Amino acid sequence: MKLSYYGHSCFEVELKGKRLLFDPFISGNQKASQVAMNHIKPDYILISHGHGDHMADAITLANASKAQIISTYEIVSWFESKGLSGIPMNTGGKKEFEFGWVKLVNAVHSSVLPDGTYGANPVGFCIYNKDHSFYYAGDTALTMDMQLIPRLCPPLDFAILPIGDHFTMGYEDAIIAADFIQCKHIVGCHFNTFPPIEIDAPKVRSAFEAAGKHIIIPEINNHYTF
Ligand code: NI
Ligand code: MN
Repeated sequence: MKLSYYGHSCFEVELKGKRLLFDPFISGNQKASQVAMNHIKPDYILISHGHGDHMADAITLANASKAQIISTYEIVSWFESKGLSGIPMNTGGKKEFEFGWVKLVNAVHSSVLPDGTYGANPVGFCIYNKDHSFYYAGDTALTMDMQLIPRLCPPLDFAILPIGDHFTMGYEDAIIAADFIQCKHIVGCHFNTFPPIEIDAPKVRSAFEAAGKHIIIPEINNHYTF
């Protein structure tokens, strides 16, 4: 599995030859100005919730690549009203795609679309096939529901968790989340984009290390292999 980081909570995962893009927010992200959006050609765009910092570039990228949107019923319906197509799902549901299963899991946060349309409950995603498995938490607080993930999905190769605090859980809670989901390999997201979510990277790394876990604090435009 190849993981690419495009800033904030935007990642692309290549799985069985398909490209899955999560929460695209690039053109409006000053920290991601070096990312060449026209090189991003996803097959699917997965949207965790309706906030602009998670979907601002979804329409542009979906139009350019003909990607299908995978999200909740309400969010996919909104994109359909803009002429795009997708697969509407909802929390707790799973569906098999050519790259593997997608299961929508609970996230504790809020959600509204840019024009004020109801954005439904936010979600996280568990993605797995017989060889690989990962969890993309989306924007969420630490929640006891995370303890269900090891019972619902195969053992995780890695998990993408928010670590920036203020709007989501911070790194201390992410360490507890890593225990709940029984995953030692964590990739941080939702940090450093705006002043309230700035992190002290060495402090975060040593806290994970002290807890016997490993965190990748990803760099924009870098690739990681799992
Ligand atoms: Ni949000
Ligand atoms: Mn956010």
